[in-house]
Amino acid sequence: KAQLTSTVLGQEIHYFDEVDSTNNAAKKLAANGCPEGTIVVAESQVGGRGRLARGWFSPPGKGIWLSVVLRPPFSPMDAAKCTLMAAVGVTRAINSVTGIGCGIKWPNDILWQGRKVVGILTEMSAEMDAINFVVIGMGINVNVNQEDFPSEIASVATSLSVAAGCEISRIKLLTAMLSELEAVYMLAKNSGFALVLEEWKKNSITLGQQVDVYGIDRNFSGQAFDIDADGALLIKTFQGVERVLAGDVSIRPS
Ligand code: BTN
Repeated sequence: KAQLTSTVLGQEIHYFDEVDSTNNAAKKLAANGCPEGTIVVAESQVGGRGRLARGWFSPPGKGIWLSVVLRPPFSPMDAAKCTLMAAVGVTRAINSVTGIGCGIKWPNDILWQGRKVVGILTEMSAEMDAINFVVIGMGINVNVNQEDFPSEIASVATSLSVAAGCEISRIKLLTAMLSELEAVYMLAKNSGFALVLEEWKKNSITLGQQVDVYGIDRNFSGQAFDIDADGALLIKTFQGVERVLAGDVSIRPS
């Protein structure tokens, strides 16, 4: 805590050697009234969760498995933007601590050379038209060796240490993440999401690419050309412009 450079995020820290999922622990704390900025970190997760009911590989000591509790004064409709906000904050931190060039794949994956180094899972609790809390869960493959990844994900995942060619200090990266995420959150609260979206776009590797969309009810292909003010991905197809707010896209190799 002495090393923290953020003022709100990380003021209450819950540290676990092993936990099922830091998001589950954070949701319990948030439901019991913990202050905004509370964080949960674990050396390892035995039930780490990803988006779309997937798991998240969380081996001990090799990553940052982190959840942050926010109580944003946004409408529940804006919760998706918290994920974009987190992607921008984490990208800033990775760039300043490691210098590797990474990019954001819509909506919330951070990739290096086409392989995932960070995944983000945002969960919300809202009542009526107000957000009670948002838990932003971030999984960062910091010092995972390439051969440690389970075979199902070995070809699509990598880590910061593989990218940088050396071990990365987890504490340096964690403190940078908390201060960058805090800065981006302040920016969103004080000046609105437009600047955050601009920065997201600058770091995007999805825009301008041919993509295949695996939507909730249909699949299609087209060229991703923008995101709108809600953070939805806009795709030009032969039929016209399609808007995707949730789901998965894969980028066609060019
Ligand atoms: C994804 O890419 O599908 C999202 C992965 C999110 C993983 C992180 S690790 C910390 C937090 N706790 C979890 O159970 N999941 C998130």
